[in-house]
Amino acid sequence: MSKKNIVEVKNLVKSFPIGGNKFTALNDISVNIAGGEFTGLVGPSGSGKTTLLNIIGGLDTPSEGTVSVLGLSLNGQSHNNLADLRLNRIGFIFQTYNILPVYTVFENVEFPLLLLKRPPHERREKVMQAIEWVGLTDKVKSRPGQLSGGECQRVAIARALVKEPRLVIADEPTANLDAENSHNVMRILSRLNRELKTSFIFATHDEKVMSYLRRILHLVDGRLDKDELIENPAKMGVE
Ligand SMILES: Nc1ncnc2c1ncn2[C@@H]1O[C@H](COP(=O)(O)OP(=O)(O)OP(=O)(O)O)[C@@H](O)[C@H]1O
Ligand SMILES: [Mg+2]
Repeated sequence: MSKKNIVEVKNLVKSFPIGGNKFTALNDISVNIAGGEFTGLVGPSGSGKTTLLNIIGGLDTPSEGTVSVLGLSLNGQSHNNLADLRLNRIGFIFQTYNILPVYTVFENVEFPLLLLKRPPHERREKVMQAIEWVGLTDKVKSRPGQLSGGECQRVAIARALVKEPRLVIADEPTANLDAENSHNVMRILSRLNRELKTSFIFATHDEKVMSYLRRILHLVDGRLDKDELIENPAKMGVE
């Protein structure tokens, strides 16, 4: 694996058994992603975006081909090693926020650090920092039921970022947000990309998300149709 690549995908095929047949969701995908990229997977519904993100994130496994993420070859890895990669080194942001309704904003964001057994003073400092990044300092004690959809998504983002992962995987992070909140979220993420050098891979249909991306991988029917570098994104995330 080349030093500057954090993701290397080679001749990846993913098929799912359906009845007695198999359905090929990803067909011979080869792509490298370097550290610090702000990249999106774009394509019609069913083109394989989530499937590819799930494989890169160690949530699903390749049928054929090889995948390396942050220096770890995912082929034939044990469940424990994959869980370790996800917990320690990758942040996930999902379309449906997956935050826990009975916990406060603070407790939701703290959750990954508890799993990582970080000491209390470190947890407090990191959680407050992540909550500040997403502009929710005045809501630390609120519970999700007291927050708007956009605020819930920002909690999910803080939770993904609190462990300062090298790589963040975001599947349709703005799908439930209005235009203003979508831009807010993208401004936060592109700022963290610049300041912390966190790498981001998105899956999206959203033109607003696309306008911030510096590279767009176009998927069509499970194939990589086009790899487009954007020299000057319409939005840079800088106010
Ligand atoms: N576990 C599964 N079993 C069978 N087929 C699956 C499975 N997961 C995904 N597929 C199929 O693989 C194809 C790609 O699905 P995927 O979820 O990656 O699409 P997508 O590009 O993320 O679409 P969307 O924009 O609607 O989220 C779809 O046709 C889907 O039905
Ligand atoms: Mg999807």
